[in-house]
Amino acid sequence: GTLNSKFVSHGKKFFASAADSGTLNIAKNAALLQSQFGGVTPENSMKWDATEPNRGQFNFGGSDALVNWAVSNNKLIRGHTLVWHSQLPSWVSAIKDSATLTSVIQTHISNVAGRYKGKLYAVSSFQLIKFDWKLSGYRPKFSEIFNEDGSLRSSVFSQVLGQDFVRIAFQAARAADPTAKLYINDYNLDSNNAKVQGLVRLVNSVNSGGKLIDGIGTQSHLGAGGAGGVQAALTALAATGCEIAMTELDIAGAAPNDYTTVVKACLNTPNCVSITTWGVSDANSWRASSTPLLYDTNYNPKPAYTAVLNAM
Ligand code: XIL
Repeated sequence: GTLNSKFVSHGKKFFASAADSGTLNIAKNAALLQSQFGGVTPENSMKWDATEPNRGQFNFGGSDALVNWAVSNNKLIRGHTLVWHSQLPSWVSAIKDSATLTSVIQTHISNVAGRYKGKLYAVSSFQLIKFDWKLSGYRPKFSEIFNEDGSLRSSVFSQVLGQDFVRIAFQAARAADPTAKLYINDYNLDSNNAKVQGLVRLVNSVNSGGKLIDGIGTQSHLGAGGAGGVQAALTALAATGCEIAMTELDIAGAAPNDYTTVVKACLNTPNCVSITTWGVSDANSWRASSTPLLYDTNYNPKPAYTAVLNAM
């Protein structure tokens, strides 16, 4: 079996990887994506700075390449990411008034989410697009919508619009692609911590007037030995009734035992539907120096790869 076929045999939806033109153009990397993985997430090409570098000027060269590759190779696609503090052009973070920012968010989402709606469903009725939502402030670099204590982070979005930006953005996405599962996505959701509890409160609050948030993504950029709290986190997140996805999994050192713990936690959580590793090979990882992925720099499987297969 392969990573995806074994995972799917447990009733899960897909085992995926981040990708983009750069890694798709590496033959060994593309061959592994084709044979082992069931889906892809654009690593950078669908982010705001790539798709709308200037107001109203859209550029879909990179994201189209990823989506076209996925469609022709019959892979599912998780869109990533519509609203995020990082890789956000400065013209957005400079906006001061709520009417302008609301309109800018709506225009961005209707263009990006709208572009891939018709295209994918026209090709194959079982393709899914899942948009990871990162709704957050623009500093510090890797903070998303929440502070570590579970409170809402200060950001251009929350400063100008308050918590309502979450509803505004999700409604725009629902309108742009009514059949896509809409996800909120964050990092450090790796134990049942205050941030997990804050996210659960927000999701329950936003969904109380009708379900807008379908899923919660937990990035899962783990440190070595950092998998012990993952099961408790997944259980707490799943209590919202949302589906759960591990969206950017990589683990410093890639110890087989750490990967086994994570995969078993997802298998053991009925609402956990997918695992995406943040790349295929250590050669192209954003955390390359910590060698966190399942394949080494020569695209050969590591012990972590065998551990993941055996855990399934
Ligand atoms: C990273 C990419 O892997 C890098 O190539 C890029 O330079 C920075 O962004 N959380 C996320 C991802 O949601 O989009 C980030 O991806 C890693 C952290």
